[in-house]
Amino acid sequence: MTYDEVVLGRRSIRGFLDKPVPQELLAEVLEMAMRAPSSFNNQCWNFSVVTGAPLEAIRKGNTEGILAGKPDSREFRSFTTVPDEHRGRQIEIAKQLFGAMGIEREDKDGRQDWVLRGFRQFDAPVSVVVTYDKVLLGSDIAPFDCGAVTNALVNAAWSRGLGCVINSQGIMQSPVVRQHANIPEDQVIMICVALGWPDEDFPANAVMSNRKGVDEAVRFVGFAD
Ligand SMILES: Cc1cc2nc3c(=O)[nH]c(=O)nc-3n(C[C@H](O)[C@H](O)[C@H](O)COP(=O)(O)O)c2cc1C
Repeated sequence: MTYDEVVLGRRSIRGFLDKPVPQELLAEVLEMAMRAPSSFNNQCWNFSVVTGAPLEAIRKGNTEGILAGKPDSREFRSFTTVPDEHRGRQIEIAKQLFGAMGIEREDKDGRQDWVLRGFRQFDAPVSVVVTYDKVLLGSDIAPFDCGAVTNALVNAAWSRGLGCVINSQGIMQSPVVRQHANIPEDQVIMICVALGWPDEDFPANAVMSNRKGVDEAVRFVGFAD
């Protein structure tokens, strides 16, 4: 696959085949991902690659905690209010996904089912939990570097025929993730990536999200025109 094919073809995958992913392939993909740049080449990232019984326990604990009303216990600061511009984009992708899945606006059960799938990491066979060294807690650079490696990870996976969705719903109850994935205390949980072989028949997997145009996002400064 060319770089263009990876970058322009990749999309989030939220429906997976019930087919295991070989450990060697996961190691290869992670080795490629770790070519990502990082501040001072710190490489503060670490990964817990989880499957089988521990992943089932995470799905169960995460979902049960949320349904029981336990507060969000992710280990990063999130936004509290979403400005209209960003809210508009959230609504747009939600409409695309619900539209593909045939979930109507009034279909509360269908929507709830979709949200619960997210908390179960879309039942993917593998979850890659991205963590960083706790000594860097409080710096904004560590999450930045985790973002770089996570983007590299989803692209590397795609180049090998694997699909991913970066999934902050899956770590909503981070103590549950820490417990079942046995994440060391010197690591901060940043995000998880649900990963597996894409189910080509799963409608949401065909959704191509939109992007701002260069004219909207980019200012060229000091150029002739
Ligand atoms: C930090 C981060 C967290 C995300 N969390 C979720 C999530 O919890 N559930 C989900 O369905 N998608 C999640 N996504 C996927 C985004 O919705 C998706 O990347 C975006 O809509 C663009 O679509 P694309 O990946 O298909 O290009 C997340 C993406 C990022 C970068």
